Amino acid sequence: MKPREIRPNVYCVGAIDWDRRLFDSLIPLPDGTSYNSYLINGSEKTALIDTVDPTMQDVLMNNLRQLGIDNIDYVIANHAEQDHSGTIPQVLEKYPGAKVVCTARCKGMLIDLLMIPEKAFMTINDGENISLGDKTLEFIHAPWVHWPETMLTYLREDKILFPCDFFGSHLATTDLYVSDEGQVYEAAKRYYAEIMMPFRTNIQKNLEKIKDYTIDIIAPSHGPLYNRPNFILGAYNNWVFDDPNNIVVLPYISMHGSTRKMVEHLVEALTEKGVTVKQFDLTVTDIGKLAIALVDAATVVIGTPTILTGPHPNVAYAAILTNALRPKFRFASIIGSYGWGGKTVEQLTMMLSNLNIEILEPVLCKGFPGETEFKALDKLADTIVQKHIENGFT
Ligand code: FEO
Repeated sequence: MKPREIRPNVYCVGAIDWDRRLFDSLIPLPDGTSYNSYLINGSEKTALIDTVDPTMQDVLMNNLRQLGIDNIDYVIANHAEQDHSGTIPQVLEKYPGAKVVCTARCKGMLIDLLMIPEKAFMTINDGENISLGDKTLEFIHAPWVHWPETMLTYLREDKILFPCDFFGSHLATTDLYVSDEGQVYEAAKRYYAEIMMPFRTNIQKNLEKIKDYTIDIIAPSHGPLYNRPNFILGAYNNWVFDDPNNIVVLPYISMHGSTRKMVEHLVEALTEKGVTVKQFDLTVTDIGKLAIALVDAATVVIGTPTILTGPHPNVAYAAILTNALRPKFRFASIIGSYGWGGKTVEQLTMMLSNLNIEILEPVLCKGFPGETEFKALDKLADTIVQKHIENGFT
């Protein structure tokens, strides 16, 4: 994508990665992504905000060439992860006088990850400014969105916030700004769930920190820009501050149909009682969809057969992932079938040990479920409803 002007002398110069389907060798990218980089040509100095993934370095370097940029004074590194910092070495090679501006912690990480020489750095404190002449950059330290070194950059005169990953979405699109809010909401929620949710408390602090800034445009480093910032600010406030909703997420696997029968019964019972259930067969589930569902859920019920004395390995994977993502759900339970014994409940409970949750009475069944198990599942549904009501999860 060629350079696109956002405001006079402020350009989007990054790359769209239509074909990438996996991030961090873990996260599915059903809609690709982008690595947004921004060039600010002040009356006296020029700054580049973040770079691009090294696989796309030619796009960035061509864009700088097309704009006729023969000098860069500052390369702002909001975040050290390589999808934004990975082309800094190439930028420094072409513009050797540029200083890499970042937090002290980011400097250490960039030296470790990219072997950038120490003399290239200029570290800045929280709230510090750099003047580009007619434009001023203000730096807002915002640790743990989602690494410890992260910061945001605010372009004061144009009221543009460059938050790097914060508020981003993995979405390849030719739209410079959000046009389809439904599509971007889903992509941004997926991004929040997979990347930011484990740091919800830090995100709360950082949302508080920027709440008094006047922001006309949020220009993240993934996905389209927000020229109606309240759209994404409102969504983030909802995801991080609000109580969970009257929702049960039910990831499961069934090998021979017994656990599936239990899942079907529990889903019916909960639905009849007015609870929204999101059911995921883990043999085919996109884990991003599961992560999105976890953002708002009040309860998670895991369905698994017992295999080799514990939960099915795909279920164990989902449990470990859920534990790492630290969603705000408050109740959990386990249902499933076994053949002759095992330690499924104990193992799954241990896998969820990061979470401040109450485990509701599990329902395990030897072989195919019968009346006793269906009654126990009805009781579990009643307990879930009661817990949701008691806590005001509507
Ligand atoms: Fe988009 Fe944390 O990198």
